[in-house]
Amino acid sequence: MEKREELYRGKAKTVYLTDDSDKLVLYFRNDTSAFDGEKIEQLDRKGEVNNKFNHFIMTKLEEAGIATQLESLISDTESVVKKLDMIPVECVVRNVAAGSLVRRLGVEEGKLLDPPLFEFFLKNDALHDPMVNDYHIESFGWATKAQVARMKELTFAVNDVLKALFDQGGMILVDYKLEFGVDSDGNIILGDEFTPDGCRLWDKATRNKMDKDRFRQGLGSVVETYIEVADRLGLKL
Ligand code: TMP
Repeated sequence: MEKREELYRGKAKTVYLTDDSDKLVLYFRNDTSAFDGEKIEQLDRKGEVNNKFNHFIMTKLEEAGIATQLESLISDTESVVKKLDMIPVECVVRNVAAGSLVRRLGVEEGKLLDPPLFEFFLKNDALHDPMVNDYHIESFGWATKAQVARMKELTFAVNDVLKALFDQGGMILVDYKLEFGVDSDGNIILGDEFTPDGCRLWDKATRNKMDKDRFRQGLGSVVETYIEVADRLGLKL
């Protein structure tokens, strides 16, 4: 398989076409972005760490029966993925209150959310990813009612697998964001990435932040902490 021209450049990853029309290459850059691209820095080894971390997590999800876009690692910073028609919404599940939920509703950070919350956000940096609901998604034709239901079902299925996985490593999966796409057979498939850039992880004992909040809040040791997260899950980086 050969890498061809750039298809799309996101804030942290670049997507390339390949000589196989069903496959793409995801290149994880060192760029680290927060606040819809307002803060961007290059962090040494971040691309490699996220590429390998994503491969590890997606493999765990596949083993649990959740179909993902990921095919294989092809270099330290690149993976081959199946081409999907991406749905332009972000699916967020929250087990514990943090981030925009705390700002929006004035609830206390750290409040346990039982049952977990589900929120959709529109992927649109210029509009700061506004929250939308099922009706917006159907009405504007971003996805069908059945696809909306499937995205929710799969996002919660991921919660069951990953809450347990991080718990075994002494961490709390506070919240996370997933993106889905549609494959050539019309199936909803988990796409994009799962890395500490797109979730919140707290140390169970100290509640120390072990995710991109370290970058957002200028806490330092961002990549070193991602490597520790991986280490606790049994992945040596
Ligand atoms: P929030 O608290 O900022 O709404 O974020 C909820 C979770 O989703 C958090 O783990 C970060 C993740 N997220 C992204 O990865 N990208 C985004 O653009 C947004 C809005 C959230």
